[in-house]
Amino acid sequence: MTRVLPEDLDHGFATRAVHAGQRPDEATGAIMTPVYQTSTYVQTGLGEHKGFEYARTRNPTRDALERNLAALEGASHGFAFASGLAATDAVLKLLQAGDHVICGENVYGGTHRIMTQVFELMGLKFTFADTRKVENIEAAITTTTRMILVETPTNPMMHLTDLAAVAALARHHDLVLVVDNTFATPCFQRPIELGAEVVIHSTTKYINGHSDMVGGAVLTTRDDLAQRLQFIQNSTGAVPGPLDCWLTLRGIKTLPIRMRQHDAAGRALAAWLSEHRAVRQVYYPGLPSHEQHDLACRQMAGFGGMISIELGSLARARAVVQGTRIFALAESLGGVESLIGHPASMTHDSVPREMREAMGLTDGLVRLSVGIEDIEDLIDDLEQALAASG
Ligand SMILES: Cc1ncc(COP(=O)(O)O)c(C=O)c1O
Repeated sequence: MTRVLPEDLDHGFATRAVHAGQRPDEATGAIMTPVYQTSTYVQTGLGEHKGFEYARTRNPTRDALERNLAALEGASHGFAFASGLAATDAVLKLLQAGDHVICGENVYGGTHRIMTQVFELMGLKFTFADTRKVENIEAAITTTTRMILVETPTNPMMHLTDLAAVAALARHHDLVLVVDNTFATPCFQRPIELGAEVVIHSTTKYINGHSDMVGGAVLTTRDDLAQRLQFIQNSTGAVPGPLDCWLTLRGIKTLPIRMRQHDAAGRALAAWLSEHRAVRQVYYPGLPSHEQHDLACRQMAGFGGMISIELGSLARARAVVQGTRIFALAESLGGVESLIGHPASMTHDSVPREMREAMGLTDGLVRLSVGIEDIEDLIDDLEQALAASG
């Protein structure tokens, strides 16, 4: 089990991002954690080894990443996985057939899909609720409920959940609160400090930040859950390779400065878009017009670079996503380069249309992942694409 190094918790966030979980290599003094590209480790005698037996179970590069992420989230244990969905999969495997989970209705489409098309077939039960209101979660609790899973802000509607309030509710009913912190990152939001017991990441996104690997992570404060997660990680085997762990560690070193720029650009573009006549609505928690802006200011230290805009029709959405030159039309988010996407046909295609439309995820909705390029260039790019959209 990869435990956080307690001394790493004495440092501030940027220092943790650069150093936590990593120490100069004992064999050589290499300042960067090596890529331990090995499947196994030589044992000195029967049952005698240096703590590493087989790389599915443990790998030093992965250990460093797991400790680093645990330190960033203020958790005591970290687990890295081969993708964000593999992390969600491991968390759902903490449960047993018959258990009930309350999940935010506007989670990532793949999260909805693994719940309804994989785990429901194995006997788990799910209720999807609008978690903007804590009362909706409370009303969904049954005698078999074991877990609440929320994303905040959500993908792509930017709905927020009041984490402190939901954590109190979860504690009261003895439920595990799991928070997917992919959008905000621990740089801007730390669910564990607000009372959550488990945090999930798609490290593919801001955590790595360079769009060059796919990965996931689970961080927790609970020793019992950590023990079970370690068993699940080793038994089901969805571990990341050492090179992907190394890339992620390298990306994390600049997380605080990248997030600062994503946030500055996100605020500037959201303000500019909200004045644009071709844009019907802007969803961005940093805008005072966002319906949960006060909550955003309370529980987030920044708002990041994810913005969704309503353009009114599929034709206009198509024209804009195909008309940008710097914003690239692609799935994913959180990289240094700006991306543009159409959630209804891309990330959320697997969510039933009625459910999508009920929460405002229309065919006219476009999602922007604002990168760290010059803000003026990004505005010029959107201006020409919006002007040409009719
Ligand atoms: C909020 C969120 N959680 C989880 C995932 C799944 O992560 P991955 O694609 O790394 O499996 C995604 C992917 O887009 C996401 O946006």
